[in-house]
Amino acid sequence: MLEGIHTEEIIARGQAVIMNTYGRLPMALTRGEGSWVWDAEGKKYLDFLTGLAVNSLGHSHPAIVSAIQEQAKLLLHTSNLYWIPNQVALAERLVANSFADKAFFCNSGAEANEGAIKLARKYAKKRYDEQKFEVISLESSFHGRTLATLTATGQKKYQEGYEPLPAGFSYVKLNDSTELEARVNDRTAAVLIEPIQGEGGVYPADEEFLQTARRLCDKYGALLIYDEVQCGLGRSGKLFAYEWSSVTPDIMTLAKALGGGIPIGAILATDKVAAAFQPGDHASTFGGNPLATAVGCAVLDIMLAEGFFQDVQKRAAYFRSGLEKLAAKYQTAGAIRGQGMILGWPVAKSGPEIVEACRKQGLLINCVGGLTLRFLPPLIARETEIDQALAILDSIFSQVWNG
Ligand SMILES: Cc1ncc(COP(=O)(O)O)c(C=O)c1O
Repeated sequence: MLEGIHTEEIIARGQAVIMNTYGRLPMALTRGEGSWVWDAEGKKYLDFLTGLAVNSLGHSHPAIVSAIQEQAKLLLHTSNLYWIPNQVALAERLVANSFADKAFFCNSGAEANEGAIKLARKYAKKRYDEQKFEVISLESSFHGRTLATLTATGQKKYQEGYEPLPAGFSYVKLNDSTELEARVNDRTAAVLIEPIQGEGGVYPADEEFLQTARRLCDKYGALLIYDEVQCGLGRSGKLFAYEWSSVTPDIMTLAKALGGGIPIGAILATDKVAAAFQPGDHASTFGGNPLATAVGCAVLDIMLAEGFFQDVQKRAAYFRSGLEKLAAKYQTAGAIRGQGMILGWPVAKSGPEIVEACRKQGLLINCVGGLTLRFLPPLIARETEIDQALAILDSIFSQVWNG
């Protein structure tokens, strides 16, 4: 382990041995507690990005630490050749609190979406015919970096250089029901939607669009897949973002916050759909291992405790109204978007500069699509911490914005 080493040396040694796939910031985080993280130089930051919506319960939550410690002493991994009691317990919690009847566990968001696409194609071929394999997803969506999921991702920049891409993917504009209506047909196996687009710029799908997607899927025997990898698990202020609407999907994917920092992903589905997978059809060596699922249970126990989401919604509304006041004060580009603790502030200019100024003043956020500041605070962020974040933003806007 690289302990007690300065940032410059970590970066130099990292550049020598790690593939150059990330545009990393010149800092290394070494410790976290609650809403706060510390870098290798001992500088403290308010973490309003939470490892990209993973550390939703904050850093070093005692219940998560203890679940990891207890399980590590017992058993870390067994493979899915055997039944895994923690996996059963986590599936029971997810099923009891969602539309779904069955779960499949894997290790990441991309793997969950890849599996969901496979499930939809298997279902379509078993129930209908060979021609039913098309997946319709949305422009500016993000579903992962495997070949199928980057193809489902409606952004060219993630696809370039990886051609030929898998066949059968096409895109419609978010919230354009007319375009969706024109596109879904007998060959459609699935419509894939993030109820709130995250990487694409924090754009929520509207109720009418979701209802149209549901109606068209029912009409043509296609499956409605929700990717709740980022917006799920409390981020929207309810356990699942789909709970804010009248529409339920047939398949839903999860990852990120489910393991509180331990890698895990999940595909949830109704019985009818899940039955398309039979032994040998899909698998993952690490998927749902005893450690990851013990932590998943601990995460859900905290989130499902009485009053947890009421409290999150209250503090999320407080944060949003603070951002709205700042957006009005500095007359920025448009309204604050998002729901609960996934919020986007369209600034249309100076996004990267503002993010960098925030980092220097000890607030971690990022900018999506180059134009929107994205906030993914811990669900447990206190009002005083929200006040600190708002004060930093205010002071930065007062310097950067009219310059
Ligand atoms: C909505 C959504 N789906 C899928 C993914 C991919 O998840 P992972 O990076 O765990 O593969 C992400 C990652 O940001 C995401 O935001």
